[in-house]
Amino acid sequence: MERTLVLLKPDAIQRDLVGEIISRLERKGLKIAGLKLMTLSDELLREHYSHLVERPFFPEVKSFMQLTPVVALCLEGKGAVAVVRQTVGITNSREAAPGTIRGEFSMSMQANLIHCSDSLETAAVEVPRFFKPQEIFEYDDVQATYLYNSSERD
Ligand code: PPS
Repeated sequence: MERTLVLLKPDAIQRDLVGEIISRLERKGLKIAGLKLMTLSDELLREHYSHLVERPFFPEVKSFMQLTPVVALCLEGKGAVAVVRQTVGITNSREAAPGTIRGEFSMSMQANLIHCSDSLETAAVEVPRFFKPQEIFEYDDVQATYLYNSSERD
């Protein structure tokens, strides 16, 4: 099964949306393989947003991401990377589709509640960036029979 990284940003924490967001992702059928609260260092943020470091908005992104701890999640499921992105909605929250998490709850490019891996390749780098191997858990999902057919459960 695919794994993907999700960060619930400081706006999700301060707006009391952590439970709502995790609940939506859980109810979609995604399995929680890792979950923790953590603070993000300058070094980690420069690595995580290395493609944005030269952009004018990077200093604000960095300070925003350090306003509070963030919730880091590793979610698992068939096609989890794309499923999470579709459930979350596009980066610009003002244009995110109704029904998506950003479309329902946010108004900003920066305060868009959630970071999620944008591809399988990115997820393979981002999950170990935020989680040690012993922080990722394997356990039986008793709902699997009711979420997937047999060929989807690999
Ligand atoms: S882009 O435009 O292709 O670089 O955007 P993307 O890679 O999808 O995500 C950019 C991340 O930077 C945050 N951010 C902004 N992006 C664009 N413009 C402005 N002004 C801006 N301010 C902040 C945005 O929330 C994305 O963060 P993540 O954590 O990746 O969702």
